Amino acid sequence: MRLTDDEKAMLEGKEGLARKKAMNLLVRYGEALGAERLVDTNNVGGYMVAKKQHMKEFGSLDALFSEFNLDSSEVVEFAKDKVKVFSCQFETTTDPEFWELQGKTHEDYQLMMANEEYLARGGVALMCTCTPYLVGNVPIKGEHCAWMESSAVVYINSVLGARTNAEGNSSATAAMLTGKIPYWGFHIDENRLGTHLIDVECTVENQMEWGLLGYYAGRMVKERVPVINGIKKLPNLIKLKQLGAAAASSGGVEMYHIPGITAEARTVEEAFGKKQPVEKLRFGKAERNWAYEALNATGKDTNVDFVMFGCPHASIEEIWEICKLLEGKRIHENTALWIFTPRGLREIADRNGFSKIIQDAGGVLMSDTCPALGQLMPKGAKVMATNSGKQAHYLPSVMGVQAWYGTTGECIDAAITGQWRGGLK
Ligand code: F3S
Repeated sequence: MRLTDDEKAMLEGKEGLARKKAMNLLVRYGEALGAERLVDTNNVGGYMVAKKQHMKEFGSLDALFSEFNLDSSEVVEFAKDKVKVFSCQFETTTDPEFWELQGKTHEDYQLMMANEEYLARGGVALMCTCTPYLVGNVPIKGEHCAWMESSAVVYINSVLGARTNAEGNSSATAAMLTGKIPYWGFHIDENRLGTHLIDVECTVENQMEWGLLGYYAGRMVKERVPVINGIKKLPNLIKLKQLGAAAASSGGVEMYHIPGITAEARTVEEAFGKKQPVEKLRFGKAERNWAYEALNATGKDTNVDFVMFGCPHASIEEIWEICKLLEGKRIHENTALWIFTPRGLREIADRNGFSKIIQDAGGVLMSDTCPALGQLMPKGAKVMATNSGKQAHYLPSVMGVQAWYGTTGECIDAAITGQWRGGLK
């Protein structure tokens, strides 16, 4: 791999041990990928969360993060050396306010707080969300980033036109320390062009339908780049967030185009460059039904004991929508309602009285984590309902629950009645 003078200096240890280890990791990673060089980044999103069992083994956060995030048995002082470029923490495993309700111990809570304090000393912005673009980290078109988290990656690549691959713990940490990331994959123009054309021939309007379209697209194209044509009604941020998260779950989609709507293609021709689609697909009623059946495949029992919103983490608009449906009502005695949002937005929800509406109805507005990532559920929950294709896809296997997937209104109805009464119209 070709290195610039500043990269060579870091590799030789002229900027300290942490940057040396980080650059060493990036060179090994880049060479394994076949990258010819690194690219500068000023925007890194990573996941640095210490696990209890690892703390017992390694004894300190420095030792633990050196091992797991920098692949180094030599201990690096991350918090002392500090990040070199703007970096944020993605979602974690514990809500700092509702950790007990989530089944965490006081020891878990203390470790989480120590983890946070450590990252803050290292200069990492504690956004603690999978949707940092909702709370101020909004990369611009063409900006090279190094982000983890599949739903965030597909959102910033496609909707914003920023450039990132789905990084791992180690590469993101190394990027924080160096401001560099291998130049490959979605950093390169050609790899951003469409590969598959999907003609939409049925209604795609509400959030659930956008999730179905995403789920179908991911299943069909896997890790390639779908170009979605034929959308009649302009979506919004919430719907595109659902589309991308579902596509990244059923396949591994990190980038898509909706000509005229997403950042990089005004027309179908522009989305493909000079290439022809490798396959032409259609999303009609049969495909929509298939996606609905697939996401509801585990739903058998109509007695719902857990309703979950906020995957990816809910925007303030989504919280407002939920509150409109929930205000003055009370959720069923056998049902828990948990809504997940970035911590920064919970503050706004508190000030707006949204948190109180949710609380008065018997629900909880949580932050920082989610059921699939934090592996947490209300005690004894067996049947869940959600408007998130991603949670409906993962939670049955991660937590062994049955899942119902539907609209926001159907899920609120399930929270209030304790019954699943949804269905594809
Ligand atoms: Fe975010 Fe958890 Fe969904 S991290 S994208 S809410 S699985």
